[in-house]
Amino acid sequence: MAAETIILVDDNIATLKAGKAALQEKYSVITVPGAEKLFEALKQTTPQLILLDVDMPDTDGYETIRRLKSSVKTEQIPVIFLTGKSDPASELEGLRLGAVDYIAKPFLPELLNKRVEIHLTLEFQRRQILEQNKKMRSFNATLQEKVEEKTKDIRSLQTAILQTMADLVERRDVDTGGHIVRTQRYLRILLSAIVAEASYVEFADMGWDIDLLVRSSQLHDVGKIAVSDLVLKKTGKLTDEEFTEMRKHSLQGKEIIEHMMEISTDKDFLNYAKILAETHHEKWNGSGYPYGLKGKDIPLPGRLLAIVDVYDALVSERPYKKPFTHEEAVKIIVDGKGTHFDPDLIDVFERISGEFAAVSV
Ligand SMILES: [Fe+2]
Repeated sequence: MAAETIILVDDNIATLKAGKAALQEKYSVITVPGAEKLFEALKQTTPQLILLDVDMPDTDGYETIRRLKSSVKTEQIPVIFLTGKSDPASELEGLRLGAVDYIAKPFLPELLNKRVEIHLTLEFQRRQILEQNKKMRSFNATLQEKVEEKTKDIRSLQTAILQTMADLVERRDVDTGGHIVRTQRYLRILLSAIVAEASYVEFADMGWDIDLLVRSSQLHDVGKIAVSDLVLKKTGKLTDEEFTEMRKHSLQGKEIIEHMMEISTDKDFLNYAKILAETHHEKWNGSGYPYGLKGKDIPLPGRLLAIVDVYDALVSERPYKKPFTHEEAVKIIVDGKGTHFDPDLIDVFERISGEFAAVSV
């Protein structure tokens, strides 16, 4: 390894000679008689250390260190004052200006060597730490990128699985083609409106995540997987018994999602899905199923999904009914204000229902 370079700056030739003699055995020592020669030398070389006199004609040591510290190229070079000004005020001023040490002249060669060695070791360690920090930052950035990439992969896999599950339900239930996709769109419209309006307070208090909620709504009818084909595919009106069978899909959905929760770590997403599956057929006046919950005991997502689920059922064609027009569907839903649906949410729905008419799949 090449010897470290030290520049010794002093207007006193005897000091330059003594300093060089003391240090040259271990280091490559450049001696200069003043600040201007120092800055000239710095154009050619970057030393590991500068030993600087204070009292010099033209530019003194304090001004010199100010210039060194104000340049990006030289600010990191450690400076030790080597001076006859040994009073505490001068020493303090030198350290305040950024010197790493202050050695009084005349100096003992051994002592000068030891102090220089200590500061070069410190400087070496400081550079090593900086280098390690730089490597660590770069490692962390790469790690972060990989985590983001993996998260994206998992998210897209999750979306694909959900879409497949939702698709399976829809394919069995011949009546409801496109229902799940449209429901998500209606739900996003209604959610965006309540975020913008007063009802947001309730929404915000719960810390709901709109994107997650909309995506998880795909599973709201997943319980239909467990409903018999005879009931699910029946084109005529359902008997009371068949209705009872059909109604089971809320709790069946909840159980399927709970089972998924046991084997998955994405609890937030599945928790939304569970709430939606479980409560989208509850009614404001307590006459819904499966629990007969009333008013705000029905979780907000369930109250919202109830509106968009019914809207889509009304405007869709079924083997046993023609589709209602948008206006008719809105009227039926508004008539259910306070009985089937949350009255505050219906006020919002009424204001923005025009946006529902534009949704088609
Ligand atoms: Fe349902």
